[in-house]
Amino acid sequence: MKPIVFLGGGRITAAMLAGLQLARYNTPLLVHDRHASKLRQLRKLYGVATESSLSRAVEQAGMLLIAVRPGSVAELLAEMPLIQRPILAVSLAAGIPLAQLKRSLGAPVRWARAMPSPVCRTGNGLTALAFDRGFPVRERRLVNHLFSAFGSVLPIPETQFDAFTVTYSSSLGYHAVAALAAGAQKLGLDRKSAFAAAAHAIADGVLAWRGGGTSLQSLLHQAATPGGTAAAVMAAMDAEGYSDVIARGLRAGLARARANATKPRSPNQ
Ligand SMILES: NC(=O)c1ccc[n+]([C@@H]2O[C@H](COP(=O)([O-])OP(=O)(O)OC[C@H]3O[C@@H](n4cnc5c(N)ncnc54)[C@H](OP(=O)(O)O)[C@@H]3O)[C@@H](O)[C@H]2O)c1
Repeated sequence: MKPIVFLGGGRITAAMLAGLQLARYNTPLLVHDRHASKLRQLRKLYGVATESSLSRAVEQAGMLLIAVRPGSVAELLAEMPLIQRPILAVSLAAGIPLAQLKRSLGAPVRWARAMPSPVCRTGNGLTALAFDRGFPVRERRLVNHLFSAFGSVLPIPETQFDAFTVTYSSSLGYHAVAALAAGAQKLGLDRKSAFAAAAHAIADGVLAWRGGGTSLQSLLHQAATPGGTAAAVMAAMDAEGYSDVIARGLRAGLARARANATKPRSPNQ
């Protein structure tokens, strides 16, 4: 069986390798990166095969995963050997449309986009997938199979992909916990208890919602007694423009994703 080849051996590749190792995923995996030290580290941590030559990595591939930063994608694709056989390529790069990817390599390459998160290392991730129109239906199963090894898979139209990308970041959850805990500390709660209360408030509620069959709207209704404290907190937050702040943050993320996808990577990115 031809290996799945990761082009780029950075953070998301390491997280995916950890998730695949946890799932005992049995398709051979191979990583190419321009840093020998990263390849050494990935071999050591995940027992994965590595290849320092891009051409040799691509020649062996059954499926390519583009796992370099968005600003490095054009350079990587320009360095690729000529591909004359049908091959599947899945880009993890934020903000780079399928149309642009398709233009860069020849017609035998079938493209899809995937957006996993580093949480996939625990086997609890979610990955959005968008397939190009020419992507063979039978081969979609191979892509689904790969990403569902470490979590759920959500197929979405490419037109929604960037909105998904900016919304689906585990760091937004960490940010919400940090903001809630900071507010609690200002009220006098000690740091440890503030983080415990904030983490449980957010995580337990979400777990209960995802695990049960109750809508978010009715959970909000049940949990916030009219005239009670939670209702007062949420009403004050809403009056201060809570949803507008979130929408503005997401718009800033979307603009950044699009800008990063069009400019070459700077050395400190
Ligand atoms: N990190 C995440 O949580 C996450 C989640 C979902 C999707 N993604 C997407 O996944 C992609 C990778 O992100 P990342 O955070 O894993 O990036 P990263 O940690 O910077 O890893 C990318 C690796 O690819 C190497 N590379 C770049 N150009 C190369 C080339 N031409 N030939 C060989 N190796 C090359 C980089 O080397 P240099 O450092 O020298 O450039 C680096 O070692 C991004 O497009 C991102 O949008 C990331």
